[in-house]
This record gives sequence, C-alpha cells and structure tokens, in this order.
Amino acid sequence: MKVITIVGARPQFIKASTVSRSIERYNSRIANNGEPINEIIVHTGQHYDYNISQVFFNELNIPKPNYNLGVGSSSHGVQTGKMLEGIEKVLLKERPNVVLVYGDTNSTLAGALAAVKLHIPVGHVEAGLRSFNRRMPEEINRILVDHMSDLLFCPTKTSIMNLKKEGIEEGVYNIGDVMYDSVLHNLKLAKKKLDIFKKLDLQPKEYFLSTIHRQENTEDLERLMSIITALVEIDDQVILPLHPRTKKIIDKNRLISGDIGRLKIIDPISYLEMLILEKNAKGILTDSGGVQKEAYFFRVPCITLRDETEWIETVESGWNIIVGTEKKKILEAVIKTSTRNEIPSPNFYGDGKASEKIVEILVKTLMSRFSS
Ligand code: UD1
Ligand code: UDP
Repeated sequence: MKVITIVGARPQFIKASTVSRSIERYNSRIANNGEPINEIIVHTGQHYDYNISQVFFNELNIPKPNYNLGVGSSSHGVQTGKMLEGIEKVLLKERPNVVLVYGDTNSTLAGALAAVKLHIPVGHVEAGLRSFNRRMPEEINRILVDHMSDLLFCPTKTSIMNLKKEGIEEGVYNIGDVMYDSVLHNLKLAKKKLDIFKKLDLQPKEYFLSTIHRQENTEDLERLMSIITALVEIDDQVILPLHPRTKKIIDKNRLISGDIGRLKIIDPISYLEMLILEKNAKGILTDSGGVQKEAYFFRVPCITLRDETEWIETVESGWNIIVGTEKKKILEAVIKTSTRNEIPSPNFYGDGKASEKIVEILVKTLMSRFSS
C-alpha cells in the first residue's frame, strides 16, 4: 500500500513523525508476511527556516521528504495554489492508495483538495476540530478538509460531535491525539536537553513560557502590542521563542525598544527543548493550538491569548483560561494561575496509541478496497 503524507508547517512535522514511526513498526512487525506500507513524504515548503522545519526532521528522525515543493511564503491564495499544482503532479506520478493530511494549515487544504479531485482517498489526522470563528484561516481549512475526507481521525469526543452536527458520520474514528503520543514518546529524550535552563539562565517553575503567531494577533498591531506589553509587565521571567511571522512584524513596525522588563525573546527552539521548557514552566501564555494541549499534558496552567479555542476540554477542566489580548485581562490571569489549587485533570486525549490506530485503520480499510 502506498501512503502519501503531506506536511509543510512546524506542528505537522511533529504530528506526522508519530505516524511515520508507527508505519515503520508495522512494516517490521509484518516482515515478509504481508504487504508493507510504502510512505512517501511530501514537504510543501510552507515552512523553510531551519528552526521551524529541518530541526524537527533531525531531532525526531523523520525520513527525508521524497519531495520538497519549495512553495515558501505568500498570500493564502498564491501559496495554496502553488501547493495544489505541485502536489497534483506528485499524486499523478505516484498514484498512492491514500493521502494523509494533518491539522488545518494551507498545506492540509492543498493536499486534500489535490487528492480528492483525483479520486484518491484522503485521511485527515486531527479531524473535527472547530473554533466556530470563520475569520481564522485554519477554521476554513478544517471545515473544507473534513468534508473532503474519507477517513476522519478525531482526537476527542468533541471533535466527533462537531462532525456529526455537520452530517459527517461515516469513516469517523475517535483515536486520541497524535500529539499526546508524541509527548509520551519524546519526553524521555527531552530530558537530555536540560542544559537549556543554564543557557537561558532559568530556574524550573520560576518562569512563564509564551508563543505568539496567530494571524489575528500578528496582523492586528493593537492586539500584538497589547500582548507584548502584558508580557513585559509580568513580574516573573517570561521566555518568548518568537515565530518568524511575529518577528518580522515586530521588526518592521519597531514594536519593541528600550526596557522590556524580564521578557526574554529568543529564536524558535527545537521540539525537545520546547517540551522541557513547557513541563517546567510556572505557566504558559499562548495562541498556539499545540502548545495549549501540551500545557494540559504537563498539567501546567495555560492562558490562551485568543477569543476562543478548539481544545475546549482544557478550558472546561479549569487548566486553560481564554483571555483574549487585553493587557489587564492577561495580567489578571497570570495572578490567578499563580494562586490556583489542585484541579482535576482527566485524560481527554487518548491512550498514547493514536498513531498506531491510524495505521491499523489504514490497513484494515484500504488494503482490501484500494490495493493496487
Ligand atoms: C502556519 C499555519 C498555522 C499554523 C502555523 C504553525 C496556515 C494558514 N497557517 O502559520 O495554522 O499554526 O503555521 O507554526 O497555514 N515565515 C518565515 N520563515 C518560514 C516560514 C514563514 O519567515 O520558514 C514568515 C513569512 O514572513 C510568512 C509568515 O512567516 O509570510 C507566515 O508564514 P505562513 O506559513 O504563511 O503562516 P504561519 O503564521 O507560519
Ligand atoms: N514548538 C517548538 N518550538 C517552538 C515553538 C513551538 O517545537 O519554539 C512546538 C510546540 O511544542 C508544539 C508545536 O510546535 O508541539 C506547535 O506548533 P505551532 O504553535 O507553530 O502551531 P499550532 O499548534 O498553533 O498550529
């Protein structure tokens, strides 16, 4: 069976690494007693800087992509259009039995659209997530991709319900979250990265960690300034590994100058370094989807710098507070998270075997239906 994996952006390398590992395990398990899975990796080139792309391939031992389309940055339409053209060529040449897409980026949309037009089945990993905010590019991508997919790999019960409300019930699987698999697998390896504390002059549980990159928070300079001012005014140390999108906007508009309090801005860090910093943070302030969940996996209080979230379990359980971007609200939430007592923390995100379930389902449903 031939599987084409489409990736392009930072979180997708992490998610896809878990499935690639499970495919390898499957192939060695069946040895010569069955048809192996041949995984072909297509990197769209949406992310290209070393520290948001290649570093993940190196650290997570992801096989080198068979194709890199080198699409790079541009407007949504141009970027998605170039990907569509490039992916279609690869699909016509390779004729896979299934195309796997991850999450909700433009690479996800282009991968699914190219495949569905060629009548190639699509598997969507992280299906059914909804923020109910259609101004987010990711929300549009998710909705379209879910409606084009044959296999919908859902991380939570909420995501299954979301699909049901949109009339999607066939091919839907509640498998848990591949990012939870990834944390379980990589945490041991991350312990080798403890020297980051020395490098950044940090003490465990005495700093906040922050990430900002969402379009709504970076293109709106008022929102961005409000977040940065809040980070500067926090009494504790704050570490901000800065996404290149945000860095470019801050630099272009000269948003940061002079005294920035205890805020330390650094380049994006590797995944293993990120896990170690998340696990040992006093609190996390973020607009990232993945980082909100990782905060929950580590039971570190999270403050979400958005007006809504797809990962509502983290909020309902009390571990995540949605504050938006008003400085006063962010600072109030920082105080609140510092004084919180123990709160319950059920496991909403599966048993750490989501990627194995994906491979099992692919084998079961596709070997018979689509094998060439
Ligand atoms: C993309 C995804 C977002 C995801 C995020 C993960 C879409 C619509 N957005 O957002 O859902 O959460 O990735 O990090 O697909 N840039 C560089 N170097 C790079 C890549 C980007 O400098 O290697 C800069 C460019 O100025 C570019 C900007 O970042 O225009 C935005 O990049 P883009 O990939 O369009 O969106 P992200 O904000 O990264
Ligand atoms: N991440 C990382 N280094 C960083 C910032 C984030 O490895 O400097 C990881 C983080 O641990 C998580 C993923 O990147 O696994 C989240 O990606 P991002 O925030 O870019 O995208 P989103 O999840 O919002 O789509």
